[in-house]
Amino acid sequence: MISEHAGQSSPSASAEAAPWWRGAVIYEIYPRSFADGSGDGTGDLAGVRARLPYLRDLGIDAVWFTPWYPSPMADGGYDVTDYRAIDPGFGDLREAELLIAEAREMGIRTIVDVVPNHVSDQHPWFHEALGSPAGSAARGRFWFRPGRGADGELPPNAWVSEFGGPAWTRTTDPDGSPGEWYLHLFAPSQPDLNWGHPEVREEHEDVLRFWFDRGVAGIRIDSAALLVKDPKLPDVATLHAPGEHPYVDRDELQDIYRGWRAVADSYGDDLALIGELWLPEATRFARYLRPGVLNSAFNFDFLVCPWDADRLRASIQQTTEVHAEVGAPTTWVLSNHDVTRPVTRYGRSDTSFSFEAKRYGTPTDLWLGLRRARAAALLTMALPGCVYLYQGEELGLPEVEDIPPGLLQDPMHFRSHGVDPGRDGCRVPMPWSGDTPPYGFSPDDADDEPWLPQPADWAGLTVESQTGIPTSTLELYRAALRLRRDLPNLGDGPMTWLPSAPQVLAFARGPDFACVVNLGPDPVELPAHDHVLLISAALKGGRLPADTAAWLRISAPG
Ligand code: GLC
Repeated sequence: MISEHAGQSSPSASAEAAPWWRGAVIYEIYPRSFADGSGDGTGDLAGVRARLPYLRDLGIDAVWFTPWYPSPMADGGYDVTDYRAIDPGFGDLREAELLIAEAREMGIRTIVDVVPNHVSDQHPWFHEALGSPAGSAARGRFWFRPGRGADGELPPNAWVSEFGGPAWTRTTDPDGSPGEWYLHLFAPSQPDLNWGHPEVREEHEDVLRFWFDRGVAGIRIDSAALLVKDPKLPDVATLHAPGEHPYVDRDELQDIYRGWRAVADSYGDDLALIGELWLPEATRFARYLRPGVLNSAFNFDFLVCPWDADRLRASIQQTTEVHAEVGAPTTWVLSNHDVTRPVTRYGRSDTSFSFEAKRYGTPTDLWLGLRRARAAALLTMALPGCVYLYQGEELGLPEVEDIPPGLLQDPMHFRSHGVDPGRDGCRVPMPWSGDTPPYGFSPDDADDEPWLPQPADWAGLTVESQTGIPTSTLELYRAALRLRRDLPNLGDGPMTWLPSAPQVLAFARGPDFACVVNLGPDPVELPAHDHVLLISAALKGGRLPADTAAWLRISAPG
């Protein structure tokens, strides 16, 4: 059954109800690490199906699956060989269809991840391109170019891959001699598509239809700002006018997504297109959220903010303003499969996030980090709009920082020559039950160990061990999500800042709800209230202690 709280629509909801994606709680599933039904140590669709009741009871509205398509897994599935099938390690298409339908029965919509910037180097198109001569139509779907230098030994330009190192790899011709280079903004196993090629565009619109036909409610668009390249392939300058960077946020993207919008709208008006847009400039970001383009995008500005009241307030304020200008809902994200888990991030002296700053051996106070992550959770779930949760966030999982080097998989780690620990630490399989690995992730009689090792001290973090413990992080999330459904002013809608002491964030949602977060070192008085609805840590002498958030029932004025 789909609940009918603000920001939700259901088959029975009135025609005027806001679309579901304006106020939804969307739970990200990284399929390799959620639940392993087959016992091979890797998560799969059978595992997800068995855990759907857990997700229903948690109180989420939709699940977003990171890529579940056939893939050599050179980048955790973001290297796709076939967008219309399921990786055999996860299951098959029939099972995905069952899963989508079963989830829907429980009121959970499904969002799939489409990766339009690149394909796997094992994709049939890339095989065809490699087997075809320079200048051929097959190569035209990608970015093949001769090298510079006397023998073409230098890459066509100096672009750097998002994972480090050059963004070009040289091919070898059938006779064994060095050939053209091809572009890959990520790993060499992820060749970039040429979005100037009509087949590339047609293919993706068809892939959208394929999944909409199977009942998915939305699409998460991977690396959504990178698809279009300046065909002259100029080097990156220090400064570019808006829309004129050679490959980030080019204006031509708007037209591509208008095409996607038209496909989605041909199915009705409640399908969501959600962009992964890492863009520093809020107004450029908001252009993608204008009517007729995408519906929403992940708010990374908020995610990367340090645990600092002024910085968070400024981010919330700016986010709210730019979204309001284009009529789009705000989104709030604390974690995903790419970034350091908040429990770890907030336990460091630098509580902000950046890919460049990730290093081994950063001192971390996990107790402090958990306390802040719990407060941050209440903050995000009280803010207007949509909330994204990443599997394990509701358990307060920390980043795993001692994965043996031989077991690491993330290309970001390898392309940095081991300097960057990579993203495996936030992708460790979920602990469900029991005292020792695999903590119920795999069946008891599983043949294989989890694909990444789980820490020996996670017994207290399992779903089983936290269930029913009122002070546990899981019960905090459950209570917050329950209230979010029950209280009509949470989710989509306006917010009002309330006066507050320095280092404190306080805002109202509607006439009788307030959220107060103390990011300072000392306890503070709570504003006048009838009672505390939910709190991330106990009050101290009636005051709100450091790194704590409270949800309050306040009296309506008058
Ligand atoms: C996105 C994904 C990330 C992936 C990259 C390349 O940023 O979230 O996991 O590595 O795109 O597809």
